[in-house]
Amino acid sequence: MDKFIVQNSSLRGTVSISGSKNAALPMMAASLLTDKTCEFHRVPDLMDIRTMGRILEVLGKKVEFRAKKLVIRPGSGALRSSGLAPYQLVRTMRASFCCLGPLLAKNKKAKVALPGGCAIGVRPVDLHLKGLRELNARIEVQKGYCFGDGSQLKGARIYLGGPFGSSVLATANVLMAAVLARGRTVIEYAACEPEIKALAEVLKKMGARLEGAGTPRIEIEGVRTLCGVVHEVPPDRIEAGTFIAAALGTKSSIELQGVDASHLTSVTEVVKTMGGALQFRDDRCRVRAPRTLRPVNITTLPYPGFPTDLQAQFTVCLTLAKGISLITEKIYPDRFMHVQELNRMDAKIQRTGPYAIIEGRRRLYGAEVMASDLRASAALVIAGLAAEGTTEILRVYHIDRGYEHIERKLRKLGAKIRRIK
Ligand code: UD1
Repeated sequence: MDKFIVQNSSLRGTVSISGSKNAALPMMAASLLTDKTCEFHRVPDLMDIRTMGRILEVLGKKVEFRAKKLVIRPGSGALRSSGLAPYQLVRTMRASFCCLGPLLAKNKKAKVALPGGCAIGVRPVDLHLKGLRELNARIEVQKGYCFGDGSQLKGARIYLGGPFGSSVLATANVLMAAVLARGRTVIEYAACEPEIKALAEVLKKMGARLEGAGTPRIEIEGVRTLCGVVHEVPPDRIEAGTFIAAALGTKSSIELQGVDASHLTSVTEVVKTMGGALQFRDDRCRVRAPRTLRPVNITTLPYPGFPTDLQAQFTVCLTLAKGISLITEKIYPDRFMHVQELNRMDAKIQRTGPYAIIEGRRRLYGAEVMASDLRASAALVIAGLAAEGTTEILRVYHIDRGYEHIERKLRKLGAKIRRIK
């Protein structure tokens, strides 16, 4: 297994932000809704994208991925009639569960493995199943698989709110089934994330009739067939936020290229409170870290709130702020695996339930640490860059699932980071 050796660094220069993984994955699933070719540009070359590509191939598509261009063609004939998405692939990536909606709508039959839990906590799929059943899909769960029949899909009014608010992938799943369901569907408490808006743009280009994506209420009028699409994936707001946190943590000034300022409002606000500044111009963003970081209280919330996917990275910055900060994790109350590792680096963080109380210190010290999940890995890299001495990060394969060429991009900014195979 690869590991990273990271040393105290200061960053400068410009980094180019990749296309969004979380936007690209549901778009890839949407290709199951048509017999025509779908072409996506600016697709990040990541493990998760390749896993989704393999699932589409198992389902009968031909997938070609070269130089950020992903082409998904119909295989010889229709989708494999079994509509089988196997556990070996689904278990490595939860987003593959959003093949269920399109398979039910287009293939009529689906057999999709239930994703398991993961390091960031319990992650149920009850909202996905509720929404699809309310669209009149028949779904049975047996031996770890969802067996679905979508031959009688019809529009419905569906409330998709759960105990932690809206669900991004449940909204994507239900939306993709509804575009081919008979009649009108209204999704209430839909997720408002930019990734849902981007998916809706793709579906509209394919001929779907829908309105309201990006708001909590999406209205869909089912159509009979959908055509192919050519579409560019939007920039990755979480990757952008990660580089912003890296600049703050290392007290550096850097420039991001290829960002959408409108996706980063909550982050901009937090950075301002911490004493830093983000200056946006066209698709560029200049990040300026203050000499002394100020503490801030952060609550993670569904969009447009502060993203849970940036909680770990900003926790690192707050360990270096002058004063006490409070993090409240409202999406995944157990997403604190990085806390113990950061404390090994001399951070002072106390976790109780969904809260982390961070007592800022002057510095962190390098140590051997273990990456537990994708965003926690990114946080440990930032901690390593900010810490005195050398940090060794084990199990960095997590980071390859979601950050394109992370060490190459960081090195270009002047970071001292090496991968040991
Ligand atoms: C997506 C993102 C992930 C991000 C998360 C929250 C992708 C590929 N992944 O995951 O990076 O961390 O949004 O912004 O886009 N829930 C239920 N029942 C369900 C589904 C979800 O209770 O059926 C709960 C979850 O446990 C969690 C909350 O709802 O507490 C939000 O999760 P959700 O938005 O569904 O996350 P994902 O879409 O899986």
